[in-house]
Amino acid sequence: MKVALFSSLTAAAAVAAHGPLHARQSASSVGSAAPVGSAAPSAPAGPAPSSFSFTLAATNPTAIPLASIVSNAPSQATHALGTTFAPGSTPTAVTGAPPLPNAALLAPSSYPPLDVIVSPDSPEVKQWILDVNNSGISIPDIAPTVAGGCPANPVAAADADKSRCWWTCGGCVQPTDVTTCPDKLTWGLTYDDGPSLYTPDLLQFLDQKQLKSTFFVVGSRVISFPAILQAEYMAGHQIAVHTWSHPSLTTLTNEQIIAELGWSKKVIKDVIGVTPSHFRPPFGDIDNRVRAIAKAMGLTPVMWTRISALATFDTDDFDLHSGLSTASKVLQNWDFIEGNATTFPSGFILLEHDLFQQSVDIATGYILPDALAHQPAFKIEPVIACLNKPMNDAYIELNDNSTNPPAQSASGSAALTSGAPGSAQSTGKPNSALPAALPGLGSVLAFAMVLLGAATL
Ligand SMILES: *[C@@H]1O[C@H](CO)[C@@H](O)[C@H](O)[C@H]1NC(C)=O
Ligand SMILES: *[C@@H]1O[C@H](CO)[C@@H](O)[C@H](O)[C@H]1NC(C)=O
Ligand SMILES: *[C@@H]1O[C@H](CO)[C@@H](O)[C@H](O)[C@H]1NC(C)=O
Ligand SMILES: [Zn+2]
Repeated sequence: MKVALFSSLTAAAAVAAHGPLHARQSASSVGSAAPVGSAAPSAPAGPAPSSFSFTLAATNPTAIPLASIVSNAPSQATHALGTTFAPGSTPTAVTGAPPLPNAALLAPSSYPPLDVIVSPDSPEVKQWILDVNNSGISIPDIAPTVAGGCPANPVAAADADKSRCWWTCGGCVQPTDVTTCPDKLTWGLTYDDGPSLYTPDLLQFLDQKQLKSTFFVVGSRVISFPAILQAEYMAGHQIAVHTWSHPSLTTLTNEQIIAELGWSKKVIKDVIGVTPSHFRPPFGDIDNRVRAIAKAMGLTPVMWTRISALATFDTDDFDLHSGLSTASKVLQNWDFIEGNATTFPSGFILLEHDLFQQSVDIATGYILPDALAHQPAFKIEPVIACLNKPMNDAYIELNDNSTNPPAQSASGSAALTSGAPGSAQSTGKPNSALPAALPGLGSVLAFAMVLLGAATL
């Protein structure tokens, strides 16, 4: 039986600042897809609701009180990892994996600067550009967008559900995008933007409940917390790519996209010994150009479930830290998601984060305990598992290419015939050479990079 913890919780201040719920939700798909500094949802005129209501079937007895999950909350004490793994340890969640690398040998000076868009001018990136060029995957000749999402890109927005298939404006997806799990009531659990100081708390909770997740990690955070990445991997969670500096990928040049994905792949491999085969575009910002480049780099996109513009499975937990959302609003979002997920004909994927303490607190204190008590029961597992694939398929080196051919192929013609109908390559215009010529775009991009630098988290 459900217990109403809050009915009519007053959140007048937040509402006054950010407008009615439905406006917030429709703006949220724009706002979360657009870089900070652009589409802040404007508060529409009219009366604002004064409460958020939700019910929870269970909470964690040791949960941080909701009233303390606020943007200006004092930093909590952080906890050490329960287990760290010696170099050379053998991973057990996958078969045939190389021994665990020595995280202490990671030399940050051998990697790009943290949290800025990666320069494509290094020898490493030049090689990856060649690899993409030699992959046999055609990169559609689509100009980068400018920062600011749909409103700032009317031409691209008009094409968003056509040849560009730009998720940010209207949620266009391709069959090659993972957006749901095939089996009803199955939840492909994901956390983005870590590892962070608070990730060990999440890992401890997941361990207690014997849950495994997918972690979309940011390369810059991996540099800062390599032992946490190792702990995730060794515990049997799925590791996946979430770029180096968290830019909106459609705003980047082909070479910058390659640099962002390539360095993230590399640092993850350097830390855990294997390379992810899946990635999530920051802000969900993907189009057919980004899809094609990712495919050429062996990366399958994973989005989050979007039933409609008003029912996008984004808890908005990311905005707790900034104060753009509140704990009660996030739990109402979760309640709606849970309700929609219960009747949705397939399984589902949410957007959640492990970068800030507030997001971890609400996950471990409320969302996960409630989800575990849900009837009918949810099956909660990493995305690769919800797709009914073995954990080995989460990594390029361990993927069984004979039964599950990867997107990437050494042979161009093989790669070209492995694309599903409607995939990026089949809808993209063929034969555009890399690099795309972008006359006059340099200054716009430099400006976008300044904005994005500020929006890095
Ligand atoms: C990509 O390959 C084509 C043909 O194979 C070649 O003409 C072009 O110069 C290459 N571009 C780069 C950036 O290597
Ligand atoms: C599904 O989501 C929508 C929008 O968030 C919400 O209005 C609706 O109540 C949800 N349905 C259920 C059954 O919770
Ligand atoms: C599958 O192909 C990838 C990329 O070519 C390769 O690195 C990997 O070793 C292959 N996997 C197996 C099990 O042979
Ligand atoms: Zn992110």
